[in-house]
Amino acid sequence: MIGSKVYSLDIVDSTNEFAKALLNATPEGTVVLARQQTNGRGRFGKTWFSPEQGLWMSVVLRPTNPALITIAAGVAVCEALHDCGVSPSIKWPNDILLNNKKIGGILTETVDHHVIVGIGLNLNIQSFPDDLSDVASSVYLETGQRIDREKVYNRVCSQLERCYTMLIENQIDALLSLWRSHAMFLGHDVVVEQGDKKMTGTALDISESGALIVTLSDGRLERVIGGTCRLLAR
Ligand code: BTN
Repeated sequence: MIGSKVYSLDIVDSTNEFAKALLNATPEGTVVLARQQTNGRGRFGKTWFSPEQGLWMSVVLRPTNPALITIAAGVAVCEALHDCGVSPSIKWPNDILLNNKKIGGILTETVDHHVIVGIGLNLNIQSFPDDLSDVASSVYLETGQRIDREKVYNRVCSQLERCYTMLIENQIDALLSLWRSHAMFLGHDVVVEQGDKKMTGTALDISESGALIVTLSDGRLERVIGGTCRLLAR
């Protein structure tokens, strides 16, 4: 079902925005794929550097329970890259890391009963603007190998189909186990930021609803929904 209808574009402002304009007129699983984005968007309104050598795509889904969709997409992306010989990790909620540098992200947006899952993967990008080069990287820069965009795209579609099926068939334990197997930061000390609120603790686990469970320094458990987390150096 995922990828049974594909809008394949050379250049677009943002695949998420293009998908939004289609919502009521396109089947579930429709993919918008672009070689380049002129106004790629990340979480919290940030811009997303989207030159030609990446995978920029959005998928239209209509889950009955959208809570774990970002988690399912994160697992699908990690599994897809794994199928292509790369072993990334996930940092809650949606950062895809390789050697602790961000090589991808997921922007999930809900409009009425539709969910647009935007996936950005820095595949063969050879350099980043100065303001990103400390935190961002690409598969090419981290492995020294070019990776086939078409192959990654196909694997992302198949793995998203698999993980989305787990979600709609309520196989939540299996999905979360897969997520944990990619979440290398569990057990590490983190700083979690939610708007103005900042907490330091140890990332313990993910809850059934996709919240990050953090053990605070006084032993209390905090469930974090939304926000970002940063790993503290050991
Ligand atoms: C993040 O901030 O980590 C999420 C980044 C998501 C980027 C992708 S690229 C394809 C899709 N279209 C967009 O404009 N953003 C998402």
